[in-house]
Amino acid sequence: MPAPIPVPDILARRSIRAFTDQPVTEAQITRLLEAAMAAPSARNTKPWSFVVVTERETLNRLIFKDAAGMLAQATLCIVVCGEPKLSEYWVQDAAAATENILLAATGMGLGSVWIGVHPHPDSEQAVRDTLDIPAHIHPLCLIAIGHPAETKPPRTQYDAACVHRERW
Ligand SMILES: Cc1cc2nc3c(=O)[nH]c(=O)nc-3n(C[C@H](O)[C@H](O)[C@H](O)COP(=O)(O)O)c2cc1C
Repeated sequence: MPAPIPVPDILARRSIRAFTDQPVTEAQITRLLEAAMAAPSARNTKPWSFVVVTERETLNRLIFKDAAGMLAQATLCIVVCGEPKLSEYWVQDAAAATENILLAATGMGLGSVWIGVHPHPDSEQAVRDTLDIPAHIHPLCLIAIGHPAETKPPRTQYDAACVHRERW
């Protein structure tokens, strides 16, 4: 029986963009990746792979757009990748793995934020070039992770207008 990964109240997961300089431990990184690979995957093909970045210089080089600036503070970045040749559902599978990482990070008291890469070819190539990712692998997103230096309250965004019952 594997050790349980704490899952928070889902409404407590918020995008955290400010971090202290306290590193994330190797044990914590392994738990985050374990959470990622527990995600559902079409036909269980698991078309994902992950690049773990903790070196300051590389984290800085991953700031490929303004909206990735929080990597200047984050002590960890997990790049979630997919391989289209393995599954036509690679985006969905890699996105499910990403959400699992975000939830596991919250449950472990870490902050995190999803930084979009795919489907922008220029962004994908910038990330590939920085990390020597082969051309047939697509970076879906970067996840900036660290010990939070900001707090955000849990909140609901429930919107009844988004819900249809029995038929549209
Ligand atoms: C596909 C996707 C791409 C995103 N890209 C970025 C990004 O590049 N930079 C950023 O600061 N936040 C990014 N976010 C985070 C959203 O801005 C955030 O989830 C949204 O504002 C809701 O806030 P919350 O996460 O605190 O609930 C992204 C989220 C998703 C799902």
